[in-house]
Amino acid sequence: MSSVTRLGVLTGGGDAPGLNAVIRAVVKTASNSGIEVIGLEDSFDGLIEPGRSRVLTPRDVTGILRFGGTILGTTNRGNPFAYPVATSEGVRDYSDRCVEMFHQLGLGALIVIGGDGTLAIAHQVCERGIPVVGVPKTIDNDIVGTTNCFGFDTAVAFATDAIDRLHTTAEAHHRIMIVEVMGRYAGWIALYAGVAGGADAILIPEIPFNVSLVAEGLRARDRWGEKFSIVVVAEGAHPRGGTPSLVQAARDGYVERLGGIGAQVCEALAGETGKETRSVVLGHLQRGGAPTSFDRVLATRFGGKAVELVRRGEFGTMVAFAPPDIVARRLDEIVGKTKTVPLDHDLLLTAKALGVTFGD
Ligand code: F6P
Repeated sequence: MSSVTRLGVLTGGGDAPGLNAVIRAVVKTASNSGIEVIGLEDSFDGLIEPGRSRVLTPRDVTGILRFGGTILGTTNRGNPFAYPVATSEGVRDYSDRCVEMFHQLGLGALIVIGGDGTLAIAHQVCERGIPVVGVPKTIDNDIVGTTNCFGFDTAVAFATDAIDRLHTTAEAHHRIMIVEVMGRYAGWIALYAGVAGGADAILIPEIPFNVSLVAEGLRARDRWGEKFSIVVVAEGAHPRGGTPSLVQAARDGYVERLGGIGAQVCEALAGETGKETRSVVLGHLQRGGAPTSFDRVLATRFGGKAVELVRRGEFGTMVAFAPPDIVARRLDEIVGKTKTVPLDHDLLLTAKALGVTFGD
């Protein structure tokens, strides 16, 4: 057992439903083990700027289980090793200050709740001597080493509901409706929501598509008498030989932003099929709202396990879901990798067997 009596917790990167459930579990579990919790605000900003941290007691986290967002705030431009600054420097390295602040706050461990980018930073600060335990978070479900990240189930549930709603209007107007979902370079949300919503075509980054083949699949539906179609497009999907569509290129301290492929597919399918087409971008709605019960439970288990790892002194690790267990993975084995949809994934093959077209 480690001798940690005070730990810090922060949330980094894009928010995901379930962050508050993890914070709640961390605070309650730690408190019941005699460990005080300091909440750091806006990711690593809480270790860079003075006065951006506060004690979290069980009372502070009562009632937050069901809320989306994060009571600590978050940012995805908060890398202390390359912190964007409004000077000609562009980015500055604030990692020394983080280490100093960590000790000034009397912390013995740091729980970092974040996606691939934030966990990579967690790994770096761990190498600078800060004892870290990571908790994987992202609606994209693209972190290696864990079957699920919390937030994914909620995003899929929302996208499925949206597809259900689009079905009725698509059918009424005999239209092709295109739904663009998030997921960055992985097609997990598109695949799961597409199957759950009964989509006719699903386009994912792992399978560069040929729009003529997509159109052919949809025309075949017309011939059978189904005069409408639903197409789910992952934001990172791209045509064969093409690249993902961007709304903003990467720049100092900021990653590139994907988007726009839904509208492009919409226009191309209108031309190829001669049918009326409409596109919808679900965007950040997928990250909002209350977490599903699955995500609440997973987030709670992650938070509890993270404190257990702190107590055991198992640092440089990340909690992970390996059904039915919550396990520890080494951070250095997961950072820098992306869990994309394997081409032999059972759900992908099942969808293909059902006749869903992926444009390949
Ligand atoms: O990683 C989660 C995610 O929602 C992605 O699916 C999406 O590409 C990105 O974040 C959007 O980021 P931002 O909130 O910066 O627009």
